[in-house]
Amino acid sequence: MNVHAPALAEAHHFDEQTSAFARDVIDDLSQHPKRLSPKYFYDAAGSELFEQITLLPEYYPTRTELTILRDRSRAISAFIPKGAALVEFGAGATTKVRLLLNECALGAYVPVDISGDFLQAQADALGADFPGLQVHPVTADFTAPFELPDSIGAMPRVGFFPGSTLGNFEPHEASAFLRSARGILGKGARMVIGVDLEKDERVLYDAYNDAAGITARFNLNVLHRINRELGGDFDVGAFVHRAIYNRDRHRIEMHLISKKALTARVLGKKFSFRPGESIHTENSYKYSLERFTALAKGSGWTPLESWTDPAGMFSVHALVASD
Ligand code: AVI
Repeated sequence: MNVHAPALAEAHHFDEQTSAFARDVIDDLSQHPKRLSPKYFYDAAGSELFEQITLLPEYYPTRTELTILRDRSRAISAFIPKGAALVEFGAGATTKVRLLLNECALGAYVPVDISGDFLQAQADALGADFPGLQVHPVTADFTAPFELPDSIGAMPRVGFFPGSTLGNFEPHEASAFLRSARGILGKGARMVIGVDLEKDERVLYDAYNDAAGITARFNLNVLHRINRELGGDFDVGAFVHRAIYNRDRHRIEMHLISKKALTARVLGKKFSFRPGESIHTENSYKYSLERFTALAKGSGWTPLESWTDPAGMFSVHALVASD
């Protein structure tokens, strides 16, 4: 860790979340090559841009996963025990869980997300539409251990992790997350998880280089966010979005490339960029069914069943905790 980062964050009287953002930005921009964590894409502006991405013609994952959840909702719901507590890791829009709620008799729905306000609003709306359903939101970083609410008592537990967010974790982090989810949910738990699949490179390339430039705005927004929240002075117009498919590592990589030599200041620290220098902002790993199955098996889960769309673009998996 950069020794100045904690002191700098403290001197600015930031709240806990902004301090963590400040520390990570200073640390990550001090690395060679420079990087930023994709978790910082999602402020209000970034979350809105991501919603727009999910509707783009080129961005197939959301649409395809919804089709699988809709077409296979019977089979998926049959895997969820009656009266279970469904724990959604990183609950965003409730479109996906609603597809399951129409089919299965849940005891409770437990959305877990770091953004408490958004979570409560979503929970209220869902509670109004499904009056018999107990909704117990938990405000927490779902990548770290957290406690499930006492109110779910001895209900069977089922994790729900749609959207292929797992793909934004490094493989060792993906494994750690699956293990941690297993620990949080406990013995006998089950899990329904969405995983994006490897496919034609052109399709992948286009999904992250959309013609309307929304993904570019989503990527560049992290620099605007640094300027807004940390008083940075990034010349955002001097950076361009680049997304490439790294075949050897089975991942889309997103970068912000500096068009010229420049210096940016964040919290009094200077970061110099060469022309063409990159900030690596995101990886989105694409799995084969075999590689995901092996990852799950090595991380405390036994794969029971998987469903894909007819073109084999995306997959949804049913896992049970290995005892
Ligand atoms: C949230 N996550 C699964 C998206 C993905 O496809 O990796 C984030 C994203 N990045 C660019 N476009 C969408």
